[in-house]
Amino acid sequence: EKGGYDYFMLKEIAEQPKAVADTLRGRLTEAGEITLDEVRLSDQDLRDVDKIFIVACGTAYHAGLVAKYAIEHWTRIPCEVELASEFRYRDPVLDRSTLVVAISQSGETMDTIMALRHAKVQKARVLAISNTNGSTIPRESDAVLYTHAGPEVAVASTKAFLTQLVACYLVGLHLAQVRGIKYADEVGAVVAQLQAMPSKVDEVLATMEPVRELGRSLGSARSVLFIGRHVGYPVALEGALKLKELAYMHAEGFAAGELKHGPIALIDDGTPVICVLPSPRGRAVLHDKMISNIQEVRARGARVVAIAEEGDTAVAPHADHVVYVPRTPTLLAPLVTTVPLQVLAAEIAATRGHDVDQPRNLAKSVTVE
Ligand code: M6R
Repeated sequence: EKGGYDYFMLKEIAEQPKAVADTLRGRLTEAGEITLDEVRLSDQDLRDVDKIFIVACGTAYHAGLVAKYAIEHWTRIPCEVELASEFRYRDPVLDRSTLVVAISQSGETMDTIMALRHAKVQKARVLAISNTNGSTIPRESDAVLYTHAGPEVAVASTKAFLTQLVACYLVGLHLAQVRGIKYADEVGAVVAQLQAMPSKVDEVLATMEPVRELGRSLGSARSVLFIGRHVGYPVALEGALKLKELAYMHAEGFAAGELKHGPIALIDDGTPVICVLPSPRGRAVLHDKMISNIQEVRARGARVVAIAEEGDTAVAPHADHVVYVPRTPTLLAPLVTTVPLQVLAAEIAATRGHDVDQPRNLAKSVTVE
């Protein structure tokens, strides 16, 4: 059932192109409109939304952090992302024009369920993004967009994450369309870019052997740091989470701009720093700043692993290893930049002799608060 792979996680990583394609399929009407699966909200309700909160845990929370960049850009609606376990305890300001987006692979994560119940009591509208048909979170929500990742067995989330990203993009585009604002014009172009993503993820998968090799050489590191800017920041957080879960190593993700405000003190001779670069074609300023951050960590002895776009000639002189991913629009880049980090974590864990599918102390679905 592992389809020839040593671990379900590896099989699930390999299934990502299909999972992304399946999540996109059937979401566009002939008129080019994006549809949700179950909508117990009118278009007028969606037009009335003046604030979005995304609530989720773990990997799903990281998908939400990426979503914020896309949703705010396309819809111009302020969007906050919050850990579900923190949300209701700080008495968030919610009303009927607030849209709460609950992201959960299992649909049964108790922290997320409690956050959504709190939102409903305050009369907010709730939209679920879930991989599990008929689970509690979609059942209790006003609207649902299902991810079509198929069953995810490994405790560490991989294909569910990529499909959560796709679902978030679709929600953002749907809101932009319904509200008819200026960015609605971009929707068609973004949809076409999204349709190209399964084959780009496939391309990434085909080039992972050097990443596995690198993983085998990182097994004895004491601590691994991940840095990124813009959507590369949540990708860094996700890379660090994968490594903690699977390899039981100290790993942390940072916004690269924060380094000099503290974390750079962690860097010692040989500390691996995984740097997620933005496209040099997109926001050149972000790219330049990442290169400076890379130079800063390298000057302190870091072993730099860069995840960069094909054709990025600026990074190689500053890095010990570069993993190239296909050219991708900035907002969609997490769909490709996350994949090498998943492969790296699985390989490091296997090198250290751990059970990649069933890490210690963790459950696939966390149904207690
Ligand atoms: O089922 P959910 O998406 O609600 O689960 C949320 C987290 O428990 C989950 O993403 C967890 O962080 C994974 N083990 C990450 O790999």
